[in-house]
Amino acid sequence: MLSNTAVADGGKRKSLHGHWSSKMAFILAVTGSAVGLGNVWKFPYVAGENGGGAFVLVYLACVILIGLPVMMSEILLGRRGRRNPVATMALLGEEEGSSRQWRWLGVLGVVAGILILSYYSVIAGWTLYYIVQSAGGAFQNATAADVGAVFDNFVGSWQAVLLCHTLFMALTVFVVARGVERGLEQAVRFMVPALLTLMVVLLGYAITSGSFAEGLAFMFTPDFSKLTWDSVLAAMGQAFFTLSIGMGAIMAYGAYLPEETSITGASGAVVTADTSIAILAGLVIFPLVFANGLNPGEGPGLVFQTLPLALGQMPAGAFFSTLFFVLLSFAAWTSALGLMEPAVAWLVEHHERTRAQAAVIIGGLIWFLGIGSVLSFNALSDFTFLNGTIFDNVDFLTSNVMLPLGGLIIAVFAGWIMCRNSSADELGGAGSLYKLWRVLTRYVAPVGILFVLLKAVGLLPDLS
Ligand code: PHE
Repeated sequence: MLSNTAVADGGKRKSLHGHWSSKMAFILAVTGSAVGLGNVWKFPYVAGENGGGAFVLVYLACVILIGLPVMMSEILLGRRGRRNPVATMALLGEEEGSSRQWRWLGVLGVVAGILILSYYSVIAGWTLYYIVQSAGGAFQNATAADVGAVFDNFVGSWQAVLLCHTLFMALTVFVVARGVERGLEQAVRFMVPALLTLMVVLLGYAITSGSFAEGLAFMFTPDFSKLTWDSVLAAMGQAFFTLSIGMGAIMAYGAYLPEETSITGASGAVVTADTSIAILAGLVIFPLVFANGLNPGEGPGLVFQTLPLALGQMPAGAFFSTLFFVLLSFAAWTSALGLMEPAVAWLVEHHERTRAQAAVIIGGLIWFLGIGSVLSFNALSDFTFLNGTIFDNVDFLTSNVMLPLGGLIIAVFAGWIMCRNSSADELGGAGSLYKLWRVLTRYVAPVGILFVLLKAVGLLPDLS
């Protein structure tokens, strides 16, 4: 079983699933995984719910101090193990003189990916519906009330939401079944630059037609009195979610990375692209929120109730609106592939399934679990516990608990268990960048994650 999956080749392993054709292909695939609904849909609404400025600042700090080192660690573990995250962690645990039980990190990631995709696919389904609505001209010169009505009518119908969720899962299973390289690279190569360009065009609209100063102030004037430990946790969770780290997706992609590629350079490029798109999304959305008297704390519907307004006012609005939601669906699609990859790679390697079979089995399970989130916006919207609806709870558990926990374990493994030689070897020598990475990975990231998690559940007392 395992021995066939990763073959020793002059001391270096090779992956069974093929390799990225170039460094650029890897950066594109990781960017494709990172850039998704997390940037355009989740970042603005979570920032809005948590009061703006101070949240954004904490989010940026988490991206740089925790997200970047954890991403580098995850890639390096993946490339060294060259297997699915479960097998990689078992192998590296053994190789570094610790234990095969590190494989539980991989298991945590497989489960997190399945849970995240169960609701991610539902929201991605919304974007599919918005393509159809945009093309039909529903947002042409629409008012905020019109756009709000389109959203409420759609989301209120569980049949419609379920249909779109089903469609999106089918699309995802299709690409995952076809394998690593084909299709994926091509899609990302076009999608990320196009999305970035369209966001810049929308920014132009927000500057000229929205309440830009107000939006800017909301996003960048930190009011620390609004910051609770819950919002700090939300900011940290968002950093993990948007960068796709802490659950093995990036580790699985790292397994297909050629030896000579610089992990530091690739991580820096991905983090920069991802953060720029999130900030751009905020800069477009908040001016529109304030110009139209909407509530920044609106929740998951925020983007769907603001962007169509701007798009509908633009010349050739139906065209741009359709294009925008097509690009957003693509962005969600390439992220969904990363969410499924750990589970699929694991099923292929451990249970001798073909990729296609594994994709259908895992996809079916995720589709089924997603029904809980489908109903959270309509039939079961009043059924709340702990953090809210089923959707709210799955989101909280995955983004704010499982991903940070996964990140913590990754940092501890890469920083403390793995010997210096191994990590320096993967990161291209023990220069000053390496030393910085090591300090962040050994101290800053694990202590930061643990502190925020414990604070948020009230296990650490206040000092004052
Ligand atoms: N980063 C993706 C987004 O922002 C979501 C994601 C999380 C993808 C975890 C893969 C793994 O939409």
